[in-house]
Amino acid sequence: TNDELHARIRAAKATLGDRVVILGHFYQRDEVVQHADFVGDSFQLANAALTKPDAEAIVFCGVHFMAETADLLSRPEQAVILPNLAAGCSMADMADESSVEECWEQLATVYGDLDTPGADGRVPVIPVTYMNSSAALKGFVGRHGGIVCTSSNARTVLEQAFERGQRVLFFPDQHLGRNTAKAMGVPLEQMPMWNPRRPLGGSSAEQLEDARVILWHGFCSVHKRFTVEQIERARAEHPGVQVIVHPECPMPVVDAADAAGSTDFIVKAIAAAPAGTTFAIGTEINLVQRLAAENPQHEIFCLDPVVCPCSTMYRIHPGYLAWVLEELVEGRVVNRIQVADEVAAPARLALERMLAAKP
Ligand code: 13P
Ligand code: SF4
Repeated sequence: TNDELHARIRAAKATLGDRVVILGHFYQRDEVVQHADFVGDSFQLANAALTKPDAEAIVFCGVHFMAETADLLSRPEQAVILPNLAAGCSMADMADESSVEECWEQLATVYGDLDTPGADGRVPVIPVTYMNSSAALKGFVGRHGGIVCTSSNARTVLEQAFERGQRVLFFPDQHLGRNTAKAMGVPLEQMPMWNPRRPLGGSSAEQLEDARVILWHGFCSVHKRFTVEQIERARAEHPGVQVIVHPECPMPVVDAADAAGSTDFIVKAIAAAPAGTTFAIGTEINLVQRLAAENPQHEIFCLDPVVCPCSTMYRIHPGYLAWVLEELVEGRVVNRIQVADEVAAPARLALERMLAAKP
């Protein structure tokens, strides 16, 4: 039963003591979150991986790219464990290294040598990858002078990228890229989307010359479900409602909301509001339901009436957590995530640039 599972997790954790640290993303189910030493958004969890250098193992209750990031940032002797190796991210899978390399080569046919600065001292393009991407892509970005961003520091990162580059190639999430660049005043016509199946990604050389942000075609299948109609209905049924959405939502949804921000932004906005506020939230359901339970002073509901969990985050079942911890007690490391050495050095460089870009 679940009670037995929780007792097993608590017992293994007590035996391991400071030898293990358990990190949990905000989207994890409550049965997992209750065992986490630290719960946060992906930027906070990347930092949390640095804060326990003495722990032998970091058990990452989140998805694969987050565990890879923790491996890159932690000491080499520390083992990062993903309780279920099938916990990936469909958005991260939408940008593979060879397609991005191919895009990079085609951009060089329009802009010339991508590593040579122009008259203004800036190179033609700086690659920026959203944290939700493979370590191989973070390595690509690191090799080409680029930066990683999360949803909480995307604007700061783009501002930094424009100091060194005339344009940004942003992947995998088109929505985070578009929403962030739009908020910075970049016109939509200067944000072409790269279609890897068409020459020059489907744009003309002139369009690419004028581009400021070239967007990859990725998206999050959870966040793309939110619609403007849902926001209109929430406003009609709950006058005064505050609508907050994640920036992975499509642009019209972000534009129609009162605010958009990372999972931690949403958590903090709710904590700061006067009691009795009504919130309609556009993000993953486990987080929304937990916020509703923890904040009885407000009325909080999910914009999407049909439950919308992140199915891969949900693959971290407490049964897997119990298993990996009990194996650690026996001296065995299972489900270790280790980034290959040749990717690790440049990927770390791109991540360190990101950690310096505060939200
Ligand atoms: P945060 O950076 O807001 O935690 O988002 C991570 C994520 O996967 C959102 O879908
Ligand atoms: Fe990936 Fe979307 Fe799940 Fe976040 S919510 S982990 S972007 S699939």
